[in-house]
Formats: sequence, C-alpha cells, structure tokens
Amino acid sequence: MSKLRASIIGGSGYAGGELLRLLLDHPNVEIGQVTSESNTGKYVHALHPNLRGRTTLKFASLSTLEPCDILFVALPHGETMQRIAQFAELAPRIIDLSADFRLRDANDYAKWYESNHTAPEWLPKFVYGLPEINREAIRGTSYISGVGCNATASILATWPLFAADIVDRSRGVIVEVKAGSSEGGASSSPSSHHPDRSHVVRSFAPVGHRHTAEVIQALSREGERVPVHMSVTAIELVRGVLATAHAFVKPELAGKLELKDLWKTYRQIYGQEPFVRIIRERQGVYRYPEPKILAGSNYADVGFDYDPESGRIVAIAAIDNLMKGASGTAVQCMNLMCGWEETAGLGFPGLHPI
Ligand SMILES: NC(=O)c1ccc[n+]([C@@H]2O[C@H](COP(=O)([O-])OP(=O)(O)OC[C@H]3O[C@@H](n4cnc5c(N)ncnc54)[C@H](OP(=O)(O)O)[C@@H]3O)[C@@H](O)[C@H]2O)c1
Repeated sequence: MSKLRASIIGGSGYAGGELLRLLLDHPNVEIGQVTSESNTGKYVHALHPNLRGRTTLKFASLSTLEPCDILFVALPHGETMQRIAQFAELAPRIIDLSADFRLRDANDYAKWYESNHTAPEWLPKFVYGLPEINREAIRGTSYISGVGCNATASILATWPLFAADIVDRSRGVIVEVKAGSSEGGASSSPSSHHPDRSHVVRSFAPVGHRHTAEVIQALSREGERVPVHMSVTAIELVRGVLATAHAFVKPELAGKLELKDLWKTYRQIYGQEPFVRIIRERQGVYRYPEPKILAGSNYADVGFDYDPESGRIVAIAAIDNLMKGASGTAVQCMNLMCGWEETAGLGFPGLHPI
C-alpha cells in the first residue's frame, strides 16, 4: 500500500511536535511539510530534540505549503477559521486541533470564546473528533475537529453515566480538572515562568473554562442542556490531566444503584474501546486513574466510585493532554477516517516508573 502524505501546520508547537513524533513512526504515512513561521529553514529537531536522528526535515513557511493527502493543523484558536477555505484547497482531509470547529452552534463562540466565528458555514462540515462517542461519523468524514484536552478527560469520565441515563440530568455534573503546564503551549507567559509555575496548585479557571461548552454539547441530548460546572486547577505536571467529576444518581435509582451496576455500565460502554482502560483496583498504589503513568501514551484511564448514602457518583479520567487530549486522538481519528487499523502508530503504553 502506498503511503499517504501528511503535512503539519504549526509543527513547532507542542501538539505539532507530538503529531510529528507519532507520524514519523506511522506505518501508512509519510511526512510532507511541517510549518513554522518563526523557525522557517531550521531543522525540526532544533525545536523537538527528542526527534534528533529520526528526521532531517526542516520547517517550511505556511506560504510554501504544497498539496498533500491529509493536513493536520495545530495553530492557536482563531487562526484556522480564517484560512480554512485555503487549507481545503490543499488537502482532501483536514484534522484541526484547535477549538475553531469543535462547537456546532456558532453563537457559542461569541459566548465562550468572546469573538464571532468567521467561517460558520464550515461548522457543520466538521465532525467532533472523539472516537469513543463519535466513531461512525469520524469514519465517514473528511474534516475532523480535535477535542479540548480538559474536555476529553471530562467527557470520557462521565459519558457512560449519561449514555446509560443513570444520573440526574437536571443536576448535571461538577468537574474538577487538574492540568499540567504543556496545556498552555510552547510560548511562555508570566504565569508559565518557572519560578511562578513550578510547584503550583493554582486555580486558574474556577468558572467559565472554554472547554465547558464542549462537555455540555457532548453530554446533552437534542433540545436539552445538561448543566456542567467545571473548575480547572494548574498543578505540578508537564503532561497530564486528571478530571474528577461528581454527579448524582437519578431519583428513580436512589437506594437501588450498586457499585456492580457502575462496573456493568462502564464495561458496556468501554469494554471494546482500544484506548480506554477501566481502572478501579482494590489494592496497590495505582488504584484509580493517574496521569503520571500515561505520559506519551494514547490511553485514557477511567475509574469511578459511589457513595450510596448521598447518591454521589465520582467519575475519574486521566490522560496525557498532548496524546489522548490532542495529537494521539488526532492520529486515532486519521486511522478511522482512512479505514486503517484504529490503533496504528499508537502502541506506546507509557512508562513506569517515571
Ligand atoms: N497543548 C495542549 O495540550 C493541547 C491539547 C489539545 C488541543 N490543543 C490545541 O492545539 C493547538 C496548538 O496548541 P499547542 O499547545 O501546540 O500550541 P503552541 O505550542 O503554542 O504552538 C502553536 C503553533 O502555531 C504556530 N503559530 C502561532 N501563531 C501562528 C500564526 N498566526 N500563523 C501561523 N502559525 C502560527 C506556531 O508557530 P511559530 O513557530 O511560527 O510560532 C506553533 O507552531 C491549539 O489550538 C490548542 O488549543 C493543544
């Protein structure tokens, strides 16, 4: 089988670098171009030192981009929507990692991103790229939007509870997200300056985090708006997200639901998923999902617990934000879109100890 040619726009960034790492090892892909405007002409390994000896590619400018089979776009929010028509002329398949095409309702951009969408006619063409909730639509599309990393962890933790309809939908869900520093991308800012960022447990979005919109969209049915209360805290990790979600069993099941029912629900929904592992051990150190052991892996570890007295279900998910939260899922989506083995190029299981 001849390989498909994939190019990466925004290849000097963290998500772009992770895409490059994955695609260099992918059995069905060859890399076309990798762009960076501020590093044009430099070797990609100058920015991604883990790729020394693996490629002699140099960064190209966006203005020299040539046609390819699949285009990955890893630009900051607001950039892709301005150039989507131009990108679509270059490639028949596009996977955009930004938030530009994640939300179905253009009005949500004004609300959550404080600016109007500049290409709303493209929103219905994009499929929300989370295979665990959208696999068939991903298989049949040419345009895929990446998923927010905090949204990925929040949705994967809670999806089975809402899909199986065992929680009180009117009360919705409270999600506490703890996030590593690479979420913020490669550019520095006062809050990412090492003396200020290291050792933090810092509330940076107690309310109003943009990814909340995606979680509402994913968990709600037609005509419904599930309340989602998300708070995000920056913690001492480079890679990793941990979402701890709280929902309440619906009144009809109060006093009836048991832990074994949750096991059954999570197994039913995730039993066949190649990248979701249900983690709930009775003993040992790693009894619940933990991002530490997922660095570099595409697994989402999902667990749960239940307090029958209050009816509170706690759902937990851990991911590597650059993998299952960004580039890993993007490659998983490419595999589905191209009709390849869903796990191709994504075999790395993570490290222990780390
Ligand atoms: N980091 C994560 O955990 C994560 C997770 C999920 C989704 N995402 C999404 O993925 C996208 C990339 O995130 P990131 O963390 O990789 O960001 P990043 O490290 O800041 O990288 C941004 C990339 O975009 C390029 N760029 C910036 N402004 C540009 C412009 N006006 N024109 C052309 N190129 C431009 C930069 O190239 P130069 O070298 O020229 O500056 C760089 O290659 C974002 O939309 C983000 O929301 C990130």
